[in-house]
Amino acid sequence: MSRTKLIAANWKMYKTPAEAKAFVEAFLPLVAGHTRDEIALFPSPVLLPTVVEAAKGSNVAVGCQNIHFAEEGAYTGETSVGQLKAVGGTHTLIGHSERRQYFAETDEIVNKKLHTALKHGLIPVVCIGEVLAEREAGKTAEVLKTQVAGAFAGITPEAAAPIVIAYEPVWAIGTGKTATPEMAVEAHQIIRAEVAKLLGASVADGMRILYGGSVKPDNATALCGQEEIDGALVGGASLKPDSFTAIVKY
Ligand code: PGA
Repeated sequence: MSRTKLIAANWKMYKTPAEAKAFVEAFLPLVAGHTRDEIALFPSPVLLPTVVEAAKGSNVAVGCQNIHFAEEGAYTGETSVGQLKAVGGTHTLIGHSERRQYFAETDEIVNKKLHTALKHGLIPVVCIGEVLAEREAGKTAEVLKTQVAGAFAGITPEAAAPIVIAYEPVWAIGTGKTATPEMAVEAHQIIRAEVAKLLGASVADGMRILYGGSVKPDNATALCGQEEIDGALVGGASLKPDSFTAIVKY
């Protein structure tokens, strides 16, 4: 099956509204008419209205870096799916390793967020990946399978179509160390096999699995050019329109 690749920018806790607007205004002409891949920006919640407005009518989608699993309620500091949708967001990251590491997100929380995102018609990008000690101990496959199974608990094959997975080895995030294409492909195959086990071969075949972790213009082709790699989740190199464009057009 041929899967449309998704190239996504995770801006983390960077940019003011003015900087975000300037990015989109510079970026849109650079990717105008680019239909080979889907493009999505994930800014901080406070930037969402600005980015959605600036990207309106373009080929660039906008999403949240995190959502809460509750519809609404007394959850100080959190963003609900309804709030995201009301400002025009269509995608959300779930379970980014920085959320897991600094905000104690577990597979159980990731699973609850995934259910909420799907219920409300968002495109969820579920992030998984091993830390260095796990890779060095030969536990990568086990960790990835546990994270996939945890995230997907109670998800039916019928509901799973919108789900995107981002494989992000934690040791490659923000470090300049990238998994080799061979390492990434091997991990993606493990993940896809686990999805097939849980949800069936045809769901697994259609599911996009992105790679993330120090993706840069000079390694994007080697990674995204692999049939098994369905795009990229890009942090640092997504902050400037020219470098993110180079990755989009790998
Ligand atoms: P990086 O971040 O590209 O800066 O390594 C990727 C991510 O955290 O999604």
